[in-house]
Amino acid sequence: MERIVENIYPEKNEIPKEHLPDVPLLQNEYLLDGELHKWEGKTQDVYSPVCIRKGDQLEKLFLGSYPLLTAKVSEEALEAASTAYNNGMGDWPLMSVQERIRHVEKFTFLMKEKREEVVKLLMWEIGKSLKDSRKEFDRTVVYIQDTIDALKDLDRKSSRFEIREGVIGQIRRAPLGVVLCMGPFNYPLNETFTTLIPALIMGNTVIFKPPKYGVLLHQPLLEAFKEAFPRAVVNTVYGDGKEVVGPLMTSGRINVLAFIGSSKVADILKKQHPDPHRLRSVLGLEAKNPAIVLSDADLELAVEESVLGALSYNGQRCTALKILFVHQDIIDDYLELFKKKLDQMKVGMPWEEDVNITPLPEDNKTAMMQQYIDDALENGATLINENGGSAQKTIMNPALLYPVHRKMRIYHEEQFGPVIPVVAFEKLEEPLDYIIHSKYGQQVSIFGEDAEKIAALIDPLVNQLCRVNINSQCQRGPDTFPFTGRKDSAEGTLSVSDALRVFSIRSLAAAKANDRNKQIITKILKEDKSNFLSTDFIF
Ligand code: G3H
Repeated sequence: MERIVENIYPEKNEIPKEHLPDVPLLQNEYLLDGELHKWEGKTQDVYSPVCIRKGDQLEKLFLGSYPLLTAKVSEEALEAASTAYNNGMGDWPLMSVQERIRHVEKFTFLMKEKREEVVKLLMWEIGKSLKDSRKEFDRTVVYIQDTIDALKDLDRKSSRFEIREGVIGQIRRAPLGVVLCMGPFNYPLNETFTTLIPALIMGNTVIFKPPKYGVLLHQPLLEAFKEAFPRAVVNTVYGDGKEVVGPLMTSGRINVLAFIGSSKVADILKKQHPDPHRLRSVLGLEAKNPAIVLSDADLELAVEESVLGALSYNGQRCTALKILFVHQDIIDDYLELFKKKLDQMKVGMPWEEDVNITPLPEDNKTAMMQQYIDDALENGATLINENGGSAQKTIMNPALLYPVHRKMRIYHEEQFGPVIPVVAFEKLEEPLDYIIHSKYGQQVSIFGEDAEKIAALIDPLVNQLCRVNINSQCQRGPDTFPFTGRKDSAEGTLSVSDALRVFSIRSLAAAKANDRNKQIITKILKEDKSNFLSTDFIF
């Protein structure tokens, strides 16, 4: 690992001009009831995790500020979203699928025009590499386009009648009401939009609250939301969760909670709803995905994927590999190669070419990581890589820890950062036992060459977790695959097509198939009287 050198952070004039953000961005507006309202109350300052060197001082770059709205404004947003939904009688929920698609297409067109601005803010706000920030934006655009295609497909399948037991019926998916969307800081754009867009396109109205880090990057899109969607279909709230989210949940008027974050917060939010049975939740929560490296694994590949899995975006992915079980026969070679790969990684600023390790956005994150390291060292682990865990301000060299065991915090807790715990095992029961007793149940990666051994692991593991990756790191994508988890890791399933189902319910119009009813239905169809009872085919 390249050592974190004293001048790892640049002086302002050393930053290539094309990467400098256009800041400070003093955001003083919020989107509510179709208007961009001016906010004159308290604001929250936003600093980049990237520090700027001034002589011997290091200071986080000031990026701007955003409104700290009050409970009252949040209630106004709820009122606006509820009015636009109007118990399913608003223009948006009654609109034809085709027309709603047109609005989303318009939004996508406007969004694409803001790519550079959003990508730059994403990079500066959360320290994600430029390459990955671009990837996040582009992946989100593709996700929206795929969502439109999936909805067309769904709608085509529903554009016909079914006749069973003398009853004629048309079954379609209908919206649920007001949706509260809250994404996480590690994918503030993508994981907000992977719930927001399907929620909207299915006819719900939305309030969305950006995560604690990754707020300003949404500002360039406010105008696009305002322009592309009818009044009050999209509303934004900003600020302290207790102040602005509490009143939404306690009102009992949120029909769907789409939240990606911690199970602790998800539980608080769900409990605030007075009629929990009325609330549908789709939650993406913590995980502690293990890798199981078998004795016959292709070492080069296993290490390569383990490094990627553990350290992409500094380990700040819910799908990251957060504990590595390696067979004891190959542990020395595995660690040696891992160390070598770590030494080749580039620590630096997010805009630098081929950078792997970048500044961490959360307050005190390096100190939290150090606590995991100290606890493991006190309990008998060794720091395998030179300079592992050394940090300067917000940036930290990854720390490879071995041997890790159940007495250490890092064995059980989700680190969500660049600390890599390795456990040696002799019998497969050991990692299996870990998975069975873990609070989490998202994914696992198995590395090995023997098909029989791998098959013997797949069958029990798919019943414990929701994805078994063979000789590959854990990941969410491709976005058409189901993304979910068991236990404390998720509620509901997200994928392009699953999300459309999550934010809707099957509803039908049905009638006894007698002549009178057939005539009525035919008239409705012929005269194009209903958007629901319709055989229109979307091309
Ligand atoms: O933070 C969790 C993300 O859903 C992970 O997505 O596997 O594509 O990085 P990813």
